[in-house]
Amino acid sequence: MATIGELLSSGTARLRASGSESSRLDAELLLGWAVGVERTTILAHPEAPVGPDAARTYEGAVARREAGEPVAYIRGVKEFHGVAFSVDPRALIPRPETELMVDEAERDLAWRLTSAPRPAGTPAVRVVDVGTGSGAAAIALTLRLRERRMLPEVAIVASDCSPDALDLARENAVGHAVADAISFVVADLLPPSERPFDVVLANLPYIPSAEIDRLPIAASFEPRVALDGGPDGLAVVRRLIALLPSGLAQDGSAYLEIGFDQGRAVEALVAELPGTWSCAIKQDLSGRDRLTEIVRSIPSLSKGR
Ligand SMILES: C[S@@+](CC[C@H](N)C(=O)[O-])C[C@H]1O[C@@H](n2cnc3c(N)ncnc32)[C@H](O)[C@@H]1O
Repeated sequence: MATIGELLSSGTARLRASGSESSRLDAELLLGWAVGVERTTILAHPEAPVGPDAARTYEGAVARREAGEPVAYIRGVKEFHGVAFSVDPRALIPRPETELMVDEAERDLAWRLTSAPRPAGTPAVRVVDVGTGSGAAAIALTLRLRERRMLPEVAIVASDCSPDALDLARENAVGHAVADAISFVVADLLPPSERPFDVVLANLPYIPSAEIDRLPIAASFEPRVALDGGPDGLAVVRRLIALLPSGLAQDGSAYLEIGFDQGRAVEALVAELPGTWSCAIKQDLSGRDRLTEIVRSIPSLSKGR
């Protein structure tokens, strides 16, 4: 029987030869998944023998990774905002940089819920995650609001134009016991709503069409509708921004994830909206522009946010 150490060495060598830039980490994650233990256990026991079934599963996983499939799709799970989400080709694999959008929405909601008294009968704060994909952002936000006991005062909608993605999002919500706190709606951008939304989150596709074929092969396993932002990358984002005057409440805010070089273009789109709006660009952990915070300003309400 081959040992953990031997399988890691052979798998790493195969993945390195196939062009993976994270060959050792990939091999560790895939072997841990095949054996059914954490990666740390794999690292701690290089001498341990691996049974034939697990070794076969691992070899199959390495072959899939050699063909370019993302590790997250092979393992069927991806961690986002400290939470494990089921992932498969129905939806984009959630990226760590999108955690910024969740953090900013949480900060905004905490401010809305605590900065002024909310007498009995005050309507719930309405939040929508547009293009929810696997549901990662909406569910991570819901879990944080539940921890902070703010959930009863917030109504959360998760929408996507892809019914398949929405099915996956629903499954993830069930898995994290928040399915009753989120309404899932198939919609083109903003779903119908009795009242405008107070907070909009959206990580919509923003990669220019011509760049899609130049992405690493792993991206070819993800749905094109999750990546393709049209000729300049902003076709879908532009349509959402145009909907904000009717879809966002008077003191509402929208958090839109963008490409590192799209901040100025989004500022220009917001500047064309009727009324008073502000647009701030926020950076991700690697210091690149990643998020726009668009606020429909009533100056007195914006103070202290
Ligand atoms: C970049 S993925 C993001 C998924 C998820 N929000 C995340 O961060 O992991 C974009 C998502 O937007 C959805 N989408 C694309 N165009 C849309 C549209 N016009 N209306 C609603 N959703 C759309 C795609 O189906 C996909 O799930």
